[in-house]
Amino acid sequence: MSDLLINIQDVSYRYDKETVLENINIQITRGSFLAIVGPNGSGKSTLLKLMLGLLKIQKGKIDLFGKPIQQFKDWERIGYVSQKANSFNTGFPATVFEVVMSGLTKKIGLFHFAQKKHREKAMEALRSVGMERFANRNIGELSGGQQQRVFIARAVASDPELLILDEPTVGVDAKNEKLFYDMIETLNKQHGITMVLVTHDLEAVSDKVTQVACLNKHLHFHGNTHEYQNLSDVELSCFYGNEKLKF
Ligand SMILES: Nc1ncnc2c1ncn2[C@@H]1O[C@H](COP(=O)(O)OP(=O)(O)O)[C@@H](O)[C@H]1O
Ligand SMILES: [Mg+2]
Repeated sequence: MSDLLINIQDVSYRYDKETVLENINIQITRGSFLAIVGPNGSGKSTLLKLMLGLLKIQKGKIDLFGKPIQQFKDWERIGYVSQKANSFNTGFPATVFEVVMSGLTKKIGLFHFAQKKHREKAMEALRSVGMERFANRNIGELSGGQQQRVFIARAVASDPELLILDEPTVGVDAKNEKLFYDMIETLNKQHGITMVLVTHDLEAVSDKVTQVACLNKHLHFHGNTHEYQNLSDVELSCFYGNEKLKF
């Protein structure tokens, strides 16, 4: 029971007149690495926002760490980096270190000062994403991919058990994308953080993920990578049209 971190049951969602999710069922167990794939507008971000309580459930049920989401309060256990996180421009007046520290506000307490242990925690998080040496740089001076790493460090600093990433490599070039996914894999396998990753590029993460979910309003497939590999091209093209998603 305690190994089931997220249980999504029969969830549907609509914006005004448009239904974007229908009868979604997904279970996410501790230690797993789930990739959610699907075309643009298929409801991926909406599903994440429902899991994070950022959108209110209209139909169905979501349990987080064994509790109905409506009663769940331990948000510290879940880290989230949204699709548009890397949008600081050069003038933004904060260092990389300060951005990561801002993720610890809850741990530090609103009117208390950061202690040595908090600063160490922030540096450790930066180290885990390979960005330690950028600590004193201005966040706006970094590339999109580097900023994205810093946002992950910010989420990692509060020791989440689960990390939810919405298309984190948009704007990251191919070479750095590989390094980026290696870093995510380390967080999953070595730090034991359960991962939920929305991605366009399943091929790039195929050897790292344990589960795949194919979403396009409906959940067309949810299973392990082996089962996914055994899907036929015909089945796949039903989900996606002609997009290349086989690995
Ligand atoms: N706040 C909103 N209001 C109305 N429609 C929305 C809103 N957010 C998303 N949508 C629509 O819902 C559908 C799913 O969007 P989204 O979950 O962002 O898909 P994805 O992340 O897979 O690209 C799209 O058609 C999108 O235009
Ligand atoms: Mg999206």
